Amino acid sequence: MPKPRPLVAGNWKMNGSKASAAELGKILQGAGETAGKVDLMVCPPATLILAFAAATRDSPVQIGGQDCHAEPAGAFTGDISAEMLADAGAVAAIVGHSERRTYHKETDAEVRAKARAALRAGLTAIVCIGETREEREAHKTLDVVALQLDGSLPDGATAANVVVAYEPVWAIGTGLTPTPADVADVHGFIRRRLAERFGAEGEGIRILYGGSVKPANAKELMAVAEVNGALVGGASLKADDFLGIAAAYRD
Ligand code: PGA
Repeated sequence: MPKPRPLVAGNWKMNGSKASAAELGKILQGAGETAGKVDLMVCPPATLILAFAAATRDSPVQIGGQDCHAEPAGAFTGDISAEMLADAGAVAAIVGHSERRTYHKETDAEVRAKARAALRAGLTAIVCIGETREEREAHKTLDVVALQLDGSLPDGATAANVVVAYEPVWAIGTGLTPTPADVADVHGFIRRRLAERFGAEGEGIRILYGGSVKPANAKELMAVAEVNGALVGGASLKADDFLGIAAAYRD
C-alpha cells in the first residue's frame, strides 16, 4: 500500500454564514498551489454544505459534514443523516469529535454507529479520538486511544472510507500542542493498531493530527512520521491560515 496522500481538513464548527462564500473563494484561489500534493476539505456547518458543494464542483477542494445521525431518515428532530449530507454534496462526515463526545455525551458505540452510517451513505468517516489532560497526566494516553479506536471504528474500514483524526482534547482551541515526539508515539501506536485490525488497508488509512494546528507549527507537525495531514479548527476559518497550513506540503 503506497504512503497515503495527506489531507488537510477544516472543521468550521458552528461558524460561518452565506457571506463565508468569500472565504471559500479565497481558499479555491490558493488551492492550485498544493493540488496533487495534499487533499483539501472544508467542513462547514450543515446550512452551507449545498452552496459550498456547488461552489467547489470541479475544484481540488472537497466538502464534508461535521456530524451525522446513525439512521438514514426518520423522526429525529434537528438531526441530519449521512445520506442527507451526501445528497447535499458532502463526501465525508466528521464523527466522534471531542465536542460531540463531551457536550452530547456520545459514546464509542454511538460514534461507531455514525461512522457505519457514513460508510453506508458512501461518505468517508473522519473518526476523532484523543485523550484529556487528566488522562495524559496519568500516562493513560495510549490506553484511551486504544479503547476509542477499537470502539469507534467500524468493521470494514478501508484506506478509502475511513480517516482517523488524533486530537488531544487539551490541545483543541488552546494553542497548546504535544511535542513532535509525543505525536510520533501516538500516531505510530495508532498505525500499528490499524494494521493489526485491518491489514494492508490499515496501512493506508490516513491519520490526521488535530489540535491548535497553525501555519507556524504545521510544517513541524506534518513532518512527524505517520502524520498524514491535519484536522484544523480555528485556523481553518481564515483562508490565508488554512492555505498556510496546507503549504506545509507545497514543496
Ligand atoms: P483547533 O480545533 O484547531 O481550533 O484546535 C481542532 C478541532 O477541533 O478539530
